[in-house]
Amino acid sequence: MCGIVAYSGKKECSKLIIDGLKKLEYRGYDSAGISLEKDNEIITLKAVGRVENLEKLVKKEEIQSFCAIGHTRWATHGKPCEINSHPHNDCTDTISIVHNGIIENYAPLKAELERKGHIFKSQTDSEVVAHLIEENLKTQDFTHAFCQTIKQVRGAYAIAALYAKEPGKIMAAKNQSPLVLGVAKDGVFLASDVPAFLAHTNKAIFLEDGDIVQIEISTYKIFNTDLKAQPRKVNEVNWDFTTAQKGGYKHFMLKEIYEQPRSAQDTLRTLKGSFEQVFGLTKKEAKKIKGVYLVACGTAYHASLCAKYMLEDFAQIPVEVETASEFKYRKIAFCKDWLFIAVSQSGETADTIAAIKNAKEAGLKVMSVCNVVGSTITRLSDITLYTHCGPEISVASTKAFTSQLVVLYSFALNLALALGRLTQTEFDNLYSSLEKLPELMKEVLSQDSKIKELAKEVFTKKDFIFLGRNSSYPIALEGALKLKEISYLHAEGFAAGEIKHGPIAVIEEGTPVLALVPQGVLEEKMLSNCQEVKARGAQVIMIRDSKEKAKAIHIPFEKEFLFPILSVIALQFFAYYIAVLKGRDVDRPRNLAKSVTVE
Ligand code: AGP
Repeated sequence: MCGIVAYSGKKECSKLIIDGLKKLEYRGYDSAGISLEKDNEIITLKAVGRVENLEKLVKKEEIQSFCAIGHTRWATHGKPCEINSHPHNDCTDTISIVHNGIIENYAPLKAELERKGHIFKSQTDSEVVAHLIEENLKTQDFTHAFCQTIKQVRGAYAIAALYAKEPGKIMAAKNQSPLVLGVAKDGVFLASDVPAFLAHTNKAIFLEDGDIVQIEISTYKIFNTDLKAQPRKVNEVNWDFTTAQKGGYKHFMLKEIYEQPRSAQDTLRTLKGSFEQVFGLTKKEAKKIKGVYLVACGTAYHASLCAKYMLEDFAQIPVEVETASEFKYRKIAFCKDWLFIAVSQSGETADTIAAIKNAKEAGLKVMSVCNVVGSTITRLSDITLYTHCGPEISVASTKAFTSQLVVLYSFALNLALALGRLTQTEFDNLYSSLEKLPELMKEVLSQDSKIKELAKEVFTKKDFIFLGRNSSYPIALEGALKLKEISYLHAEGFAAGEIKHGPIAVIEEGTPVLALVPQGVLEEKMLSNCQEVKARGAQVIMIRDSKEKAKAIHIPFEKEFLFPILSVIALQFFAYYIAVLKGRDVDRPRNLAKSVTVE
């Protein structure tokens, strides 16, 4: 999730771009760059780290420009460094591009361009766009060459480009990554999000997938790749800046809950390819895996517990899951042919780092599932699988959790295929369901207001119980963690079969019990657990995927193994609305930090 800002108009714009990038830093700040048009030339400046580092460079150069593009990067392909930062103005000094998203087919495009003599400088997928434009400009003007380029790329993108020989013109394209036009009286802005230009205009055009934009000084046209005009509404945005940063949502947590279909889609996109390309292991190495250690903290630990069921059910290998803070005390007789997997959103959790060091000392191969390119854990790992969900701002982890499950579920299914535990047909059938996840998640998101009403019924209670069995047991733990960490209320998750061995004693009249009741082998047992606690006065709220119309939070059914990823979204909403009703600081709850960098 990067930030793009562009401008063409009557105002000197280097400061406009820099200020706009600063307002998009919540989208990523590994590095930043700007390309400024001046006297039919493009001058590009870049700096690693925060936008203020770029600002110092721009101030020193004092370049007067009226047309420019800028970018603040959240690394997805290639580590955070100057050569990988945008704008990409390296293939030729007359073309410069910035990109937010993932070009799915960049590898074959890059190979074809290299065969034609193009020399690539960076490790990014984005650079291929600049080379394609250069190639297409050999036979057509900038507008047509840009449209031709967009027809050639596949994936999610918001792209803006400059061509020095057509000064004052910016070409841009939008597909699945956000891009908004800001229409000011003295120029036109283009940005990933409204906050970038809100200080200059509140007239915003939210571009749609497939839109191409041509900006020339203070005018703009919107058309498709066949140059057919696309009429788009000019909206008056009445958000203040902070609300705009949250995309109009009240909290980052709610915004990030709603971003989950997009982050799951972006993560799934990067899991296509051969086993070795995606998971960094040859088939031969995969066949040698006799077991898996999964180590993490908090929400990432719950994701690891979910993965355990997937690996045991499908890959049929033994799995050991441990919290990182406990792992380091374990006197484990490590099995050398077990794979060690660390899961971490931030990549900076001290306990998990310590556990990885223990594993490396024991000679284990270390794989990590992480959201931050270049973080400590990724640098310690032999292999890193990235969750592509962009910066997760809210302390309570939501989109990172479901993206971790996407990665781990994909790994489990692919490992099962590699080990011959699944036939290709069985794998294809299961994986096609996994790829339906973004659409299925949207159906759960539509339960938002119903869950808000349920939260209103119970937010004054003092104790909350969450029950689940098998692969839903980790979701019971995660639901309890979400609630306690942002509402400060007491909440506990239990394996439902365990409540008769003690925990049922805490049930009183009106105690809310959230029960995860997937259809299939677990359903009958879970329903009887619900009866047991109801008989003792509990107020049971079921999360179900069956067609039963009984009072419950209904989520869609696709395959049993997807119930944990879908049901957790309902519990995220539940925790969120209770915390809001309790008047808590949802995004920055007391006593907590987004990344626990101390042991
Ligand atoms: C989750 O909502 C919490 N913020 C916390 O448990 C978190 O998951 C844990 O600290 C691990 O962080 P990591 O994924 O960045 O390693």
